[in-house]
Amino acid sequence: MKKDFLNYIQETFNLTEKEIKKFKEYIEKPLKKSIRININKIWVKDFKTLATKNNWRLTPSSLWKNTFYIDRDNLSIPLWSTLEHIVGLFYIQEIAASGSPFYMSLDKVDKSKFIILDMSASPWWKTTSLSEYYPNSIIIANELLKPRLKWLFINLNRMSSLNTIVTNYDWRFFKNTPETFDKILLDAPCSWEWTAFKSPETLKFWNIKNIKKISRLQFWLLESAFIALKTWWELVYSTCTLNKIENEWVINKLINKYTSNLEIIPINKKNTYKRNWQHLDFTWWFFVAKIIKTTSLIKEKQNKWNKEKNIKFVRQNIEKLSNKEAKNIKDFIKNAFWYDEKYYLYKYKTSIFLTNKNLDYIWEKLFLYQIWIHIWELKNSEFLPNFYLWTIQIFKNNIIDIENKDLDKLYSWKYLKTNKKDWYYQLINKSMPAWIAKIKNNNLKSLLENNLIRR
Ligand SMILES: C[S@@+](CC[C@H](N)C(=O)[O-])C[C@H]1O[C@@H](n2cnc3c(N)ncnc32)[C@H](O)[C@@H]1O
Repeated sequence: MKKDFLNYIQETFNLTEKEIKKFKEYIEKPLKKSIRININKIWVKDFKTLATKNNWRLTPSSLWKNTFYIDRDNLSIPLWSTLEHIVGLFYIQEIAASGSPFYMSLDKVDKSKFIILDMSASPWWKTTSLSEYYPNSIIIANELLKPRLKWLFINLNRMSSLNTIVTNYDWRFFKNTPETFDKILLDAPCSWEWTAFKSPETLKFWNIKNIKKISRLQFWLLESAFIALKTWWELVYSTCTLNKIENEWVINKLINKYTSNLEIIPINKKNTYKRNWQHLDFTWWFFVAKIIKTTSLIKEKQNKWNKEKNIKFVRQNIEKLSNKEAKNIKDFIKNAFWYDEKYYLYKYKTSIFLTNKNLDYIWEKLFLYQIWIHIWELKNSEFLPNFYLWTIQIFKNNIIDIENKDLDKLYSWKYLKTNKKDWYYQLINKSMPAWIAKIKNNNLKSLLENNLIRR
């Protein structure tokens, strides 16, 4: 273990010899597997019943109410390959990673209609959690690096995060969105201290100079977030690091610059900020702070943000469907499977996206990279249903109940014989919408995504 790092931790946090020994010991211990139940899709009590049937043992975590440690005896099928995981009933997630959405929402589902920005969202965890805590809000998941978006997309699909859109901004260079968002999560890029429990090698490049450099980026992002926040609303800042340079220093810089415009909301009665320690909380290192904007900055920076002069209206690549187009698609889906009028449809080239939100408020403000979820492809004026459409809910038409042994065959992409007519069908197993199958010439073939096939 890198000595500089241990010395820094011991000195900065005043740890005794016994404490630093325990700190070091725990870095080498594996973390227990934990999951978060997707309350958009299943009640916690129903998931517990399902878990008992599967012989999965859930132990509540001391931190959040939808989050459990999980133990299984039969490990022949990896947890990610179980049907319950594929259809998004739960999320395999480290406990600490629930921290920032948890402190934003105080672990309560809020039905208000907010505009929430998840400023650095990839690879995956926290956006889907925000979508569950704020089901009626629009969640904007932003990520700078395009290659990192792939897993975000997969998870938004799998968890049916229907109220989410994705943007691809470098949020340091904030220009067009002052005072736009009701809540912002900045889960900042950081020095990756937390990965030390995977391999001590990751601390090889740990040095104060590097950390100060990262902390400058973090401050730019935090300042942008603060500017983009509406007055009287709040911003949560988090990192996966313990050091104070990426945490308290960054916050203090903001406090010094905007002293009369903000307040820090203490995380609880005892602590202003939350810091998770592996040896105390049995989860990885994590830091969370909560800031409220008490006064608008617009008056002070009137010239800079004069709406008439500076705000450019965005032209989207994504299109709204014409009434005729939308009607055709809705009628088709309704007759073939199911459709609910609460949804909105959008189009990008040949892809059709379904969302449960009207996006007019942000339409001219933000360039939308993708809208969730992706349900269809238009090919030669035919609809090709996308895999994840089938996991949203049980349909009314064209469903097939399927037993475990047949599902197992489909997992490995084998055919089943059937007398049903050629068409797409939704498979149901144990009252769960499984996935889509296509029947052609009496052969039922599952259209399971490549990465989910059991080989
Ligand atoms: C700690 S990760 C976010 C983890 C994510 N919230 C989750 O729960 O899985 C930080 C992310 O910030 C992104 N990032 C870095 N610089 C950025 C910038 N200038 N603007 C927006 N995002 C940025 C990184 O690519 C990285 O994916």
